[in-house]
Order: sequence, then structure tokens, then C-alpha cells
Amino acid sequence: MSLEIQLRDLARDVAIEAGELAVRRRSEGVSIAESKSSVADIVTEADREVETLIRGLLLAARPGDGFLGEESGHEEGTTDVAWVVDPIDGTVNYAYGIPQYAVSIAAARGGTDPLAWTAIAGAVRHPAFDETFSAARGEGAVLDSLDGSTRLAVNTEFPAGALLATGFGYDKATHDADIDTVRRVMPIARDVRRAGAAALDFAHVAAGRLDGYFERGLKPWDRAAGALIVQEAGGRILDLPADRHGRIMTIAGDAELVSRIGDRVSGITADE
Ligand code: IPD
Ligand code: CA
Repeated sequence: MSLEIQLRDLARDVAIEAGELAVRRRSEGVSIAESKSSVADIVTEADREVETLIRGLLLAARPGDGFLGEESGHEEGTTDVAWVVDPIDGTVNYAYGIPQYAVSIAAARGGTDPLAWTAIAGAVRHPAFDETFSAARGEGAVLDSLDGSTRLAVNTEFPAGALLATGFGYDKATHDADIDTVRRVMPIARDVRRAGAAALDFAHVAAGRLDGYFERGLKPWDRAAGALIVQEAGGRILDLPADRHGRIMTIAGDAELVSRIGDRVSGITADE
């Protein structure tokens, strides 16, 4: 079995166990532990506990791997594999009781600088729906659910316009620019969704439940697993240069659609 598949299977198993803990803690009631970059950017006790569980399980299975987690930061390892983890993506949904939240776990390679890492395996677990999206580089992407195991492929035809998702950062100073981007992209959209969990937005593009997704300012843990799953479902990930707030725009979907969204975001608005 290739290393990529071993890492994917480990990511999947750990994400399922972590999701069970998140659901259990949710049913017991959520307490906000702290606000982070802004008052809207929260962390719950469950985020921290779930990340501790994930870290313990991964490092017990593969001692020496590096780790980058949303809640506990970066620890360099002694192997050439590092784990990139968002214990609960969609924390605001989680806190409000909206089931659109996920556990995201990716294995990456590429030295000591997280910005240079390439994901080689990953899993996004949506515990409320009992769905696990996963991929190993070069091996395709799959969804495991109560209906069995399905290979994923992005949509390539958009006769009624593309169903797109987006997200907004927590910093209010960036909202005007994000709303302006939605206005620019709207002419090629069938409609736009803002569901609140980036990892699931990527996973749903891979599964053809969305045609495309764009957002500025994603963190490595928001995207590591999901972006690989889109690529392994035949899609493209495009990163555009940072805006004046230092936020890179990431676009996911079918390659041609991604180019059209990129042109619109950049102000090239040829007739569609
Ligand atoms: C956030 C969610 C949200 C996205 C933000 C992310 P968090 O992650 O994925 O949909 O718009 O950019 O930071 O804070 O819930 O882990
Ligand atoms: Ca999170």
C-alpha cells in the first residue's frame, strides 16, 4: 500500500473519531473559550479538546511527524510528513447548533515551512451527515457515507450558470472587498451560497454539489485537505495574488470555470 493511501486511511479514521467527540460535546452544550482575531472569530472548549485528541491519535500512529493545528500551532517533526488540522471547521455554525461543521485533517510534505507544504492525503469528516470525503494524491477522491463509497468528480457543465459558494473573513475591514467580489462574479452564477465551513465547501465542489467556490484569506488548515480532494476529483485550485489586506484569493472547481471566476475577480469581465 502506498504511503499516500496509508496516510489517507489514517486521516479518515482519526477524523471519524474526532467527529464523534465533537458531536458528543455539542450535545452537552457549547462554551466559547475565547475570541481570537476578532470578536466574531471564536474558539470553543470543544475545538481544543478535539484537536488534542487528533494530535494524540496521529502522533501515536506516526511518532515524529510534524503538526500544524488551528488551535495549538506548529511543531516541527523529524519525518518529512506533517499533519495540517482544523479540529472543527465551521466553529460559528457549531456554536449556533447549525450542523454544517467538519473535521479536516491533511498529511503534507515539503520541508519545514508550512507555506511550502503540498498535501498528499486528506480527509474531511461531516459528522452530522455521517459523510467522509477523502483523497490520496494520484489516487482520486471518494465519499464514504451510508450509501457506500463513491468516487468524486467535479461538475464540468453549467448550462444555467454555476452554483458557487464563498466565505467572508472575520475582519470587518475586508467585508466591502468581499461583497464587491460577489457582485463581480454574480453574472456567471446561478446562485451563491455562504454555508460557513470552508472544508465542506471544497468537499461539496469535489462531489458536484457545488460547481465552484472562492474565498480570500483561507488558512492552511481550512484548505489543506479540501483543496486536495477537489484536485483529486479532477478540479483545479487557483491562488491569486494577495489583496491589500494580505489575503490570497483561492478558487476551486472545474478548470475552465475557475479561470472565468478568476477573470471576474480580477476585473476582466468579458461578455459571458
Ligand atoms: C472558517 C470557516 C468559514 C470561512 C473562514 C474560516 P473556522 O473556519 O471555514 O467558512 O469563511 O474563512 O476561517 O474559523 O470555522 O475554523
Ligand atoms: Ca476551526
